[in-house]
Amino acid sequence: MAAPSPTPPAPFSTVIRTASAAQHTEAENSSFMSDLLGGKLGILAYRRYTEQLWFVYRTLEEASGTLAADPVAGPFIRPELARTAELERDLTHLGGPSWSAGLEPLPATAAYAERVAACARDWPAGYVAHHYTRYLGDLSGGQIIRGTAEKTWGFARKGDGVRFYVFEEIGNPAAFKREYRELLDALPVDDLEKQRVVDECKRAFALNSAVFRELGEEFRLSA
Ligand code: HEM
Repeated sequence: MAAPSPTPPAPFSTVIRTASAAQHTEAENSSFMSDLLGGKLGILAYRRYTEQLWFVYRTLEEASGTLAADPVAGPFIRPELARTAELERDLTHLGGPSWSAGLEPLPATAAYAERVAACARDWPAGYVAHHYTRYLGDLSGGQIIRGTAEKTWGFARKGDGVRFYVFEEIGNPAAFKREYRELLDALPVDDLEKQRVVDECKRAFALNSAVFRELGEEFRLSA
């Protein structure tokens, strides 16, 4: 009888999703996210959260130009994903034309942006971990957040206030995510480097949770 054939290794896109699943649940269930999406917080909390996203995406997207030609990170850089302009439009709606005057990131947001910048500068595969953690999430659960935000704070459907969640140039998000996962599966790095990317993805989730924690402290509901 033939020996059983060994189980083929899981595709990298599955490995990274599985490895971060517990932290995904944790982020989703953080008290800030639960309160925000449970309609318990005012529009100011949503604005503060959107401001934090702006610091992160500005850093992610500032690197696009230099990383576009990189063999590892380059294939992931797609103009249709860029969110900075959409965030700025949302923030103008939420805070008026001078929304950025005096705006500072929370300490956790500054630490997150610094880590993204360091990866962008020195470690393109690490940058991919951050890119995946944000953009694939925005294309997935982001759509749930958009619907809730529209209902809770009365934004026009897919209009100013929630443009961050609307990818106008991605007609078929499911197909886009499929192609994105294929890029992850073909990441041109060895197994050890892939393990480091998984670890960086976990770090990216932890950095997001830290931002939620600080936002939660600012918008604590009285018991
Ligand atoms: C309340 C907040 C959230 C909700 C409701 C939510 C919900 C979801 C849902 C429904 C999916 C689709 C799962 C699938 O396609 O099988 C998803 C995927 C994902 N989410 Fe979230 N999510 C939330 C927060 C977050 C946060 C904070 C992050 C990280 C910053 C994140 C990152 C991701 C990623 C990377 C994926 C893609 C997983 C993959 O297919 O590889 N999500 N999310």
